[in-house]
Parts: sequence; C-alpha cells; structure tokens
Amino acid sequence: MMTDNFDKKADGWDENPERHKRASDVASAIKASGLKPVSALEFGCGTGLLTFALRPFADRTVLADTSSGMIDVLTKKINAAGASDLSARLISEGADELAGETFDTIYSLMTLHHINDIPGILSLFNEHLTPGGTLFICDLEEEDGSFHGGGFSGHCGFNRASLTAQLNAAGFTSVAFEVCHTIINEVDEHPTSFPLFLATAKR
Ligand SMILES: C[S@@+](CC[C@H](N)C(=O)[O-])C[C@H]1O[C@@H](n2cnc3c(N)ncnc32)[C@H](O)[C@@H]1O
Repeated sequence: MMTDNFDKKADGWDENPERHKRASDVASAIKASGLKPVSALEFGCGTGLLTFALRPFADRTVLADTSSGMIDVLTKKINAAGASDLSARLISEGADELAGETFDTIYSLMTLHHINDIPGILSLFNEHLTPGGTLFICDLEEEDGSFHGGGFSGHCGFNRASLTAQLNAAGFTSVAFEVCHTIINEVDEHPTSFPLFLATAKR
C-alpha cells in the first residue's frame, strides 16, 4: 500500500458529507445495473460507506480493507446496524485472507489509485469473481496530480483506454464507463472538478 495512513483518518472518515454523497451516487449507478447478486465483495471498503448506501443489494457482502482503523470503525457500524449480511475483513496487501472465495460481484470506490500494481489487482479481482460476475470500479478520471497534491505516490487517476486494455488483459470483457460523481476540491484557491468514472466489466 502507498503512504497514506488510513488508520489515522478512520475515526473522522464519515464526518465528511462529500464522502456520503459520492457513495450514494455510486450506489445509484451500481443499482441501475439491475444486478441482484447473492454474494458481493467491497474491496478497499474503508468504513463501508458504499456498501451501506447500496443495501439492500447482495444477500451477503464481505467488506475488505488493509487498514485496521477502517475495519474497526466498520465493525462498530455493522454491529450497531445489526447487519448480519455484512462481514468486515482485515486483509493484507496480497489479500491472501480471501483465498478460495468467489463473489458474484466485486466493487471498489477510490481505492485503485492507491494500489501500485494495477495488473495484479485486476487479476486478483478476476480470480475472486464467479464466471459471468461483474466488476465495478469507481475512481478518478486521469488528472494532473492536483487531487492529492505534492508527495502522493499513487496514480493520478486513470486513462480510460489504458484501464480498458488492462482489464481486457486480466480477462474482463464488455468494459463500459460512465461518469457517476464529480468531486469539487479547492486547488490553488480555485474550485476544481474531479470527475469519477464507474467502470463496469464482466468476467
Ligand atoms: C480513499 S479510501 C476509500 C475508502 C472507501 N472506499 C470510501 O470511498 O469511503 C481508500 C481505501 O483503500 C484502502 N486500501 C489501500 N490499499 C489497499 C489494498 N491494497 N487492499 C485493500 N484496501 C486498500 C485504504 O485502507 C482505504 O480504506
């Protein structure tokens, strides 16, 4: 994982209304697919905002993240909601903790740009999807680095054509993109738009 310390951010994560709005917009776009999966995986779930915005969706959902702080906050939310359909899973970077498990759908919000090895993570998603399963990735459109500012070592968003080629190389077909939300951040004291794409792909 890259340098951002999500453990430190976990306690205050849900206090930012923009994060709730984007989770709600992404959930609407995923729901518009009409899918009714039995099993789902949210990868890089943080505090689970997207899965909570999606419910009811899958019969059972695993929410996985490498940050123990995020998983602690999420576990409290699951317990408080009595959500027996959700289970939080602390994973290591290679996600060995998910070995042998498959899901009808996998979705991920604002996590891919923090992961160095994109071909590796897309192969992992393919391995954990049932045949015919659907992958949803929501992340930043290609940007100039101003979203995170100096010192960030992740990806400055994603070029659609390059990501499509990487998805195809990992075994995915029927790749489609739409813009599902736009984050407005101050950059050099100017409000700046950062659109988020939702990429949908079939295994
Ligand atoms: C920008 S946050 C997004 C959290 C959540 N999806 C949301 O939108 O509120 C990125 C999340 O990805 C997690 N993450 C980073 N690298 C990861 C990896 N290799 N595997 C799983 N989770 C990872 C971080 O711990 C963090 O919770």
